[in-house]
Amino acid sequence: MNFKSLINVGLIATTLLGVGCTSSANNRGYSKDAEINTKVEMLLSKMTLEEKVGQMNQYNGFYDATGPAPSDGDAKNKYEHLRNGWVGSMLNVRGAKEVRAMQKMAVEESRLGIPMIFGLDVIHGHKTLAPIPLGESASWDLEAIKKSAQVAATEAAAEGINWTFAPMVDISRDARWGRVMEGAGEDTYLGSKIGVARIQGFQGDDLSANNTIAACAKHFAGYGFAEAGRDYNTVDVGTSTLYNVIFPPFQAALDADVKTVMNSFNILNGVPATGNKWLQRDLLKGKWGFNGFVISDWGSCMEMMAHGFAADLKEAAELAANAGSDMDMESYAYVKHLSTLVKEGKVNEADIDDAVRRILTVKYELGLFDDPYKYCDEQREQELIYHEDHKAAVLDMALKSVVLLKNDKQVLPLDKSQKKIAVIGALADDKTSPLGSWRVASDDNTAVSVLEGLKNHNIKYTYAKGADVSVGDVGFQIPVTINNTDKSEFAEAIALARKSEVVVMVLGEHGYQSGEGRSRTNIGLPGVQQELLEEVYKVNQNIVLVLMNGRPLALPWADAHIPAILETWQLGTESGNAIAKTLFGDNNPSGKLPMTFPRNVAQCPIYYNHYNTGRPTGGNGVFWSHYIDESNDPLYPFGFGLSYTSFEYSNLKAKVDGDVVKVSITVKNTGKVAGQEVAQLYIHDKAASVARPIKELKGFEKFELAPNDSKLVEFELTSKELGFYNNEGEFVVEAGDFDIMVGTDSQNVSITSVTL
Ligand code: BGC
Repeated sequence: MNFKSLINVGLIATTLLGVGCTSSANNRGYSKDAEINTKVEMLLSKMTLEEKVGQMNQYNGFYDATGPAPSDGDAKNKYEHLRNGWVGSMLNVRGAKEVRAMQKMAVEESRLGIPMIFGLDVIHGHKTLAPIPLGESASWDLEAIKKSAQVAATEAAAEGINWTFAPMVDISRDARWGRVMEGAGEDTYLGSKIGVARIQGFQGDDLSANNTIAACAKHFAGYGFAEAGRDYNTVDVGTSTLYNVIFPPFQAALDADVKTVMNSFNILNGVPATGNKWLQRDLLKGKWGFNGFVISDWGSCMEMMAHGFAADLKEAAELAANAGSDMDMESYAYVKHLSTLVKEGKVNEADIDDAVRRILTVKYELGLFDDPYKYCDEQREQELIYHEDHKAAVLDMALKSVVLLKNDKQVLPLDKSQKKIAVIGALADDKTSPLGSWRVASDDNTAVSVLEGLKNHNIKYTYAKGADVSVGDVGFQIPVTINNTDKSEFAEAIALARKSEVVVMVLGEHGYQSGEGRSRTNIGLPGVQQELLEEVYKVNQNIVLVLMNGRPLALPWADAHIPAILETWQLGTESGNAIAKTLFGDNNPSGKLPMTFPRNVAQCPIYYNHYNTGRPTGGNGVFWSHYIDESNDPLYPFGFGLSYTSFEYSNLKAKVDGDVVKVSITVKNTGKVAGQEVAQLYIHDKAASVARPIKELKGFEKFELAPNDSKLVEFELTSKELGFYNNEGEFVVEAGDFDIMVGTDSQNVSITSVTL
């Protein structure tokens, strides 16, 4: 096979690439294990309609964590439903003892004794926390990310959990959206690889093992494209973006055998995802052959009424079930109405059977029928939670996630013998914010703070808070206030800075200023922190700015004035240790931004792989695609990140060789210390039947080089990387000229070209 045979034969290419295969799922079963399929059928044949619907019903456990639930969702009712076999799953029940108690009720008190599946948002660790997902993604280190998910799965499984609502594989280009912290950033290629690494980490090789859990690719689909970055807002996107940007991470998740998919809150081009038949039945389960089950998002079935799509809860149940949404999270729509809808002929029992088959299959694969309490061993729980090995793994992940944004005159790394180090900023003394958002099971105050990290590394410093990040009590359910105006502690901080040799300022967002429901219109430093930074700068310009934040921030002043800037995201349990090691050179930063940092919030959404427009440059005076008051350029581009050493790229070569394009480049460490670099490969299809972005990431490699060492980095581009989805949703590979670019970030690249 060579390119010529693939070119312009979209559907053939689609089949060859395995990206458009028809469903292997059918009434004979969803598992690769025939025995499981037989067991599922046998059980299904014994179930009443109500018991089947029960499997499609999920209830919340201890607390209503993430949104409004219908008022009649009282606990008493739920217990009764449990005994009736009307509850297939619970979320937010955790702890070996607690899960055992609930499971016992389902297994011993319901007629058929079908075990429940227990789900939880295990997003970036369970008790021991890794960096927030956006931070981890900055590592571009798939093995480390997989390991981090393994650690999360091990701890969660030890607490009775057998299913995580992760990874979030939504592509997001808008820093205003608080949930960017939960994903892998703006790029589809990187996001797909990271999603797969996370799924592999969670699910392992054996789903029935007691340290693995089922994963869930979410939110299908388009949730990351909420208009104006406002959470839950309308999503209106065209075919090209859907197929080329939004869908591929889900397709990659399916290839990685993800067991479940969560649909999303948003409407997609007018139709709520939960009631969207095209998305769930035709595409996901039909064309892509998904064999697992689809869970709704929290109350998303009920929310179809507010969307103006369903007249009442009964109709919402009808629409969602017919659209292929298999399990209802906390809308009470299925449990109340689905049996009646079947009896009325509005929902086919065959579709109910299909959903139940999917759910039971995952339960069998998890081994829950062999031993429903296999995840409920209290001794195991005690041994594994906060295990030292887990701390080591999340520290490693944290060290790899730090991104050096600026380092003029090699201010960093700092010298350990430096006498007068001032540390300023409330976040330096914060043991909770570094844990970030989405940490359902973790305990407040369990992160190593920056101050503790410095102490642990025998660094002498003097500390002044200077300013708070936010006002009052900031918690998961509590609205976040960010307009703190208290400057009463400025004077002390300024005085300290004046008499110090170097000032480490730890500024940024509180851990709960990003995450679900945390959209912002101002993505500068919250409160009076910017003012504090400028005041301190007036007395001491030798500042290292340590940023802690859950989203890209727009900090043009800091970039123009502050000599050294270190992006540390929210690094999790070992945060302070990772930051101390990096500040003093025990860790050479190697992270690269997975998301563009704008200079101005008004540039959002801003992303590297945009189209060129018809007027990309200023030849027409004012009439070109630009702002008259701000540059088009980002503050820091996608893929950007410095090191304490330097790398030189040379000798880029690309040639067509049979059915692949072979690319190579030499990278040399030209600095004085060893360091890790991520070589990034981008392509541009210069003229195509559907316009292609100016640049698209299609390969990367992370490697370490000693000073003066060099490495020949090689890539192979296949039709999978060179093709794209046209506006009919067909995958095509087209003849023509391609620019091939390799470099240290999305802007700083060497360029050559090939003709297909
Ligand atoms: C979120 C989901 C999450 C669910 C359960 C929802 O609000 O959108 O991502 O898994 O709550 O906590």
